[in-house]
Amino acid sequence: MHQLIKKVLVTEEQIIARSKELAKQITNDYAGKEAPLFVALLKGSVPFLAELVKHVEMDIEFDFMDVSSYEGTESIGDIKILKDLDRSIKGLDIILVEDIVDTGRTLTTVKQTLLNKGANSVKIVTLLDKPDRRVVEIKAEYTGFEIENEFVVGFGLDYNQKFRNLPYIGVLKDECYR
Ligand code: IMP
Repeated sequence: MHQLIKKVLVTEEQIIARSKELAKQITNDYAGKEAPLFVALLKGSVPFLAELVKHVEMDIEFDFMDVSSYEGTESIGDIKILKDLDRSIKGLDIILVEDIVDTGRTLTTVKQTLLNKGANSVKIVTLLDKPDRRVVEIKAEYTGFEIENEFVVGFGLDYNQKFRNLPYIGVLKDECYR
């Protein structure tokens, strides 16, 4: 275990097993339909996207978006698009891939943005969910793990851009925040 990690909340084995279950669910839900386009939000959802799509049994495509809150605003759900999708999504069913749903502001805005671009439907798959932190009502159709209101890192999630490459979800030692 990394020397700055206090405890592991979700192990790599648990993430892989749960990703397989979610992928199976998604595969079943879209059986007989046009395969959905997976849209992942940079950078945090990249490891989860990579794990998830390995187990999806459909000929899917994926694309990326990078968004940030407008500077100076206390994240009110107003986002700036730093990297937009490479292609038109008119009429497509979208699976929006996220690392964690916290207040729900980011996903609510991104989901609306995708619908405004003409997506036929937008469903959300998230590795983690912190339901106690929700400010805007939004529920992911597919959730890996619900966790307590605690700051976590690993499997894509960062603290000052670090720790994204840890293969598990963990909590940092208090000394990291001093
Ligand atoms: P929301 O708009 O508040 O739901 O923001 C979700 C985003 O906040 C995620 O994509 C993460 O980038 C970040 N975030 C929320 N909680 C954590 C955490 O515990 N660790 C790392 N990043 C987090």
